[in-house]
Amino acid sequence: MTVDTASAPPKMAGNPIAGFLFQVAMLSSLLCSSNGHGLKMGFYKQSCPQAETIVRTTVDSFFSHDPTVSAPLLRLHFHDCFVRGCDGSVLLNSTRKNLAEKDAKPNLTLDGFYVIDAAKAALEESCPATVSCADILALAARDAVSLAAGLGKGIAMTNQSLYQVETGRRDGFVSRASEAEAHLPSSYANISALKANFGSKRLTARDLAVLSGAHAIGNSHCFSFDKRLKRYHGKGGIDPTLDPHYAIKLISKCRPGNGTTTEMVPGSSTTFDTKYYELVAKRRGLFHSDAALLHDKVTRDYVFSRLKSPESSFFADFGSAMVKMGKVGVLTGKAGEIRKNCALVNR
Ligand code: HEM
Ligand SMILES: *[C@@H]1O[C@H](CO)[C@@H](O)[C@H](O)[C@H]1NC(C)=O
Ligand SMILES: *[C@@H]1O[C@H](CO)[C@@H](O)[C@H](O)[C@H]1NC(C)=O
Ligand SMILES: *[C@@H]1O[C@H](CO)[C@@H](O)[C@H](O)[C@H]1NC(C)=O
Ligand SMILES: *[C@@H]1O[C@H](CO)[C@@H](O)[C@H](O)[C@H]1NC(C)=O
Ligand SMILES: *[C@@H]1O[C@H](CO)[C@@H](O)[C@H](O)[C@H]1NC(C)=O
Repeated sequence: MTVDTASAPPKMAGNPIAGFLFQVAMLSSLLCSSNGHGLKMGFYKQSCPQAETIVRTTVDSFFSHDPTVSAPLLRLHFHDCFVRGCDGSVLLNSTRKNLAEKDAKPNLTLDGFYVIDAAKAALEESCPATVSCADILALAARDAVSLAAGLGKGIAMTNQSLYQVETGRRDGFVSRASEAEAHLPSSYANISALKANFGSKRLTARDLAVLSGAHAIGNSHCFSFDKRLKRYHGKGGIDPTLDPHYAIKLISKCRPGNGTTTEMVPGSSTTFDTKYYELVAKRRGLFHSDAALLHDKVTRDYVFSRLKSPESSFFADFGSAMVKMGKVGVLTGKAGEIRKNCALVNR
């Protein structure tokens, strides 16, 4: 989003008409940017026809050496979209005067930046200053999850994808750690907080249930969920929404403390499938936010319906929800810029 509330003109407060017009402008810029107006399929068809192939080839080559790379790539796009819209803000480095999203405290344990940087370098060779970092994130997330789903293994074929991605996003100028803390949902969140958080991005309870399926791949640090294992809500015990037998397993995995990580779906953390929902249904979701899906009719029904539906129906739902998430707060047209280096604003 281009509007920076912190720097809203201070004089507005004393002038009701200007203040009203300013609010209308804010609202319309919000509505306009939030519905993805200006994005389209194949935005780079003329300006950089090989754009999607270059991203796919890059993701393929990292994935073929290390399939765990797909999870961080998927997560990066989510974190980008939920803070200031999908504008590449998650990629910006901190500066002397500004602590960026990627350095939010506690830091976001994000990874995969090197893949985005490699794709960007290759794109700058072929089509300088043309493809935005925000679009690279959206494409890389799509390619990563498609590879994890077993599509087009090892061969660069952009049509072997779970879904198609609209492009035309532009890169923002601002990245603030404080906004990451304010806008990203907590792993300890309850269902009402999660629905409100997604709702603020115009994503529904169903979108929440579908997108949480991203936790089919990847790992988590123990410190991201270990409050569930001890002194939960000030009481002495284990989170009552967690299967106690599973809690004991997690406690043994996490014993050494600190940097330890664990697969979110044990034994299947590089395969994108519906095993996540089987775990959640058995009260073995890793985070409270996963368990919380059982506390609302819509999200609960979605979890249980996965147990009886073919995987392909989840893939279709996931693709639509990702396309919707990929439109949140985008900058298009003349807004923002096309960064030359994803970690730095131009100039
Ligand atoms: C519903 C609210 C969500 C919460 C509270 C949440 C929270 C978390 C947390 C705490 C981690 C572990 C980080 C760590 O300790 O290393 C994680 C990992 C992950 N999240 Fe989420 N997440 C949510 C939604 C999403 C969505 C919508 C996506 C993507 C569409 C996503 C994709 C991922 C992936 C792929 C990982 C694994 C990353 C890796 O292996 O490096 N998450 N999430
Ligand atoms: C951004 O920060 C990372 C981590 O500190 C560093 O490795 C990288 O070189 C920086 N990128 C630029 C372009 O300064
Ligand atoms: C976050 O902190 C951990 C541990 O201090 C470090 O290994 C990791 O590289 C950091 N991540 C980012 C994105 O700064
Ligand atoms: C993908 O494209 C290739 C080459 O253009 C074609 O041979 C293949 O049938 C296509 N696959 C799908 C699933 O559309
Ligand atoms: C859910 O979490 C929010 C924010 O942490 C809190 O204000 C609210 O009381 C909680 N709701 C329930 C039903 O526990
Ligand atoms: C965990 O990390 C903290 C601070 O980083 C350190 O003081 C402590 O000794 C570590 N504990 C273990 C069990 O490694």
